[in-house]
Amino acid sequence: MKLNHVIESQQFTVPLLMELFERTRQMEKMVARGGTKDYSSKIMATLFYKSSTRTRFSFEAAMFRLGGRVISTEHAADFSSEMRDEILEDTIRIISNDCDVIVLRHTEEGAARRAAAVSSVPVINAGDGSGGQHPTQALLDLYTIYRECKALNGIAVAFVGALDNGRTVRSLTYLLSKFDRVKFYFIAPPEMQIGDDILHYLDNHRVQYELLQQPEGIISAVDVVYRTRIDRDRLAKKDVDLGIYNINAAVLQKMKSNAIIMHPLPRSVEIDPVVDTDPRAVYFRQARNGLFVRMALLTILFDQE
Ligand code: CP
Repeated sequence: MKLNHVIESQQFTVPLLMELFERTRQMEKMVARGGTKDYSSKIMATLFYKSSTRTRFSFEAAMFRLGGRVISTEHAADFSSEMRDEILEDTIRIISNDCDVIVLRHTEEGAARRAAAVSSVPVINAGDGSGGQHPTQALLDLYTIYRECKALNGIAVAFVGALDNGRTVRSLTYLLSKFDRVKFYFIAPPEMQIGDDILHYLDNHRVQYELLQQPEGIISAVDVVYRTRIDRDRLAKKDVDLGIYNINAAVLQKMKSNAIIMHPLPRSVEIDPVVDTDPRAVYFRQARNGLFVRMALLTILFDQE
């Protein structure tokens, strides 16, 4: 199957995911050997209209580790011709003349799809809007679960946080739904619960899930606790106790010995730093996997040209 652009998680089949993960293992070994020059003719453009630490740096590092080069504009909204009312489509038409792949983060949901429609090179969605997707985050999340839990079929995952506008949760839910006997627990304040579009998708694909307001009783049953931020300003009632969602030493005691704690980062108070040294806290290894997964994804796109 040819991968023209990377816009949403639903594009990935299980065989393609397994190919990606096989390549990702090779990239881990390749980086340990000092990288490669095999892709020295390739240029990647990173175009970020919203802030990013992990995604932009790991994509750019991935390209350098493959021997390629990077052209970039940080704060694209300020430093591209969009300042002079150029529409995204025209910006992409121009930039796609100058590179072999475009990595785009944008404020608007659907921007990556619009870019792909006019680009002469592959476009990778690095996050679109608040309610859109972040497919490469989901790929590195899935790879982390695959490596840490040694399984994808039959796992139970608790998503905890603001789930209504969580791109990473949406994208990972789509990916995990491709595996057998997966069960989701969506745990959030009612006004931040996962969207109906995701629930319809799960219903249509006969995936099991439960919607909960608090994590009590579930944490001890799951294989993965995937925590995201909650912005208190978005809550209708400001006196809601958000502490019940936090991961701390007491939560660690309840978790299975082989369960893992994930977070797309950046984190705030939702994970107590005392948790960081527990072997089940995988969020920094998860972020590290972004380099290898993005290297593997870039090679898939380049090798099929
Ligand atoms: N996880 C993630 O997308 O982080 P950044 O916003 O720093 O890229």
